[in-house]
Amino acid sequence: MAKIEKIVLSYSGGLDTSIILKWLQETYGCEVVTFTADLGQGEELEPARAKAEMSGVKDIRIIDLREEFVSDFVFPMLRANALYEGQYLLGSSIARPLIAKHLVGIAREVGAHAIAHGATGKGNDQVRFELAVNALDPSIKIIAPWRQWNIRSRMQLLEYAEKHHIPVPSDKRGEAPFSIDANLLHTSTEGKILENPAEVAPDHVYQRTVDPVDAPDTPEIITIGFERGDPVSVNGKSMTPAALLTELNGLGGRHGIGRLDLVENRFIGMKSRGIYETPGGTILLTAHRGIESITLDRAAAHLKDEIMPRYAELIYNGFWFAPEREMLQALIDQSQTFVSGEVTLRLYKGSASVISRASPLSLYSADLVTFEESAIAYDHHDAEGFIRLNGLRLRSWAARNGR
Ligand code: ARG
Repeated sequence: MAKIEKIVLSYSGGLDTSIILKWLQETYGCEVVTFTADLGQGEELEPARAKAEMSGVKDIRIIDLREEFVSDFVFPMLRANALYEGQYLLGSSIARPLIAKHLVGIAREVGAHAIAHGATGKGNDQVRFELAVNALDPSIKIIAPWRQWNIRSRMQLLEYAEKHHIPVPSDKRGEAPFSIDANLLHTSTEGKILENPAEVAPDHVYQRTVDPVDAPDTPEIITIGFERGDPVSVNGKSMTPAALLTELNGLGGRHGIGRLDLVENRFIGMKSRGIYETPGGTILLTAHRGIESITLDRAAAHLKDEIMPRYAELIYNGFWFAPEREMLQALIDQSQTFVSGEVTLRLYKGSASVISRASPLSLYSADLVTFEESAIAYDHHDAEGFIRLNGLRLRSWAARNGR
């Protein structure tokens, strides 16, 4: 086996990745470059720099990826109205390919032949990181300490930290904390009491949304502008993708929008229970469907809805950088050419509902649909023939069945 000279580590600065950093330095005896991404997780990232420095890291990368995350990953996914198993907005799934892309970029830049990540051996995230790295640079080796070392429990992990003088914050000393993954799109919480799906999630697991019961008693009306399928403004004010999602997270959080308590099927094979909070994403999904309802042709809309579960599953399973995802994306993107206009929503006690929509490119024809006399050429007799022919096979079928 060729000796590994340099490793790029996906590093949050938290306890687990600090231990991984030390373990890599010890096990491989080589330079480790750390990469910390700002995806809008709402944590100070500078402490990660200080911690990496203390561990002797010379090359420390901290990069603000918020705009790239929203414009190149979240928005393309939202164009598809993607939901995994009908409910999950894929907040963790969509962040992994972006992190992997930068890990690969840094590895190439610094001449590292290996990448390390802190995802455990039971989850989806290891799959997503590694499939993305495979697709972007097959020459890069992947190190997954959680699958390689013989630390098997929280106790052993803390022992390792003590032995190597890695500071363990007092709140991390007791029992294992919740496993939390946060970014601009969502917060996901798993583990501990949540592992029993029969237990109601305690209030304190929720971090960015209020309980709908405690949300304001007066509804809030907002308008979202879309251009070619992507949201571009809130209440008439143009915003960058990350600023727009941040704004909607604030509004949604205050009104208790986007909470989800879900048992899902992991790609790896087991079921898991998690609590998700996706306030801005939930508003955007509803708004996007609203603008599509007047700007998309029926067959185009239905085709999108047919492929959506497949597309969502590809993202969930880690195939963002796979040819079939790119093919479906091309189809989805083309469908969005005329998806422009404005949607007004009411935010109230946990729900975001469309209350009006308008577009200069609307296909909606009041003249055609009206119950009143219409100027447009529509012959009511055509409907009679339409129904007669559609009913032809039903009449044969019913006659044969002796009805
Ligand atoms: N189960 C979710 C997924 O696979 C979230 C995974 C990461 N979340 C966490 N709390 N560790 O997309």
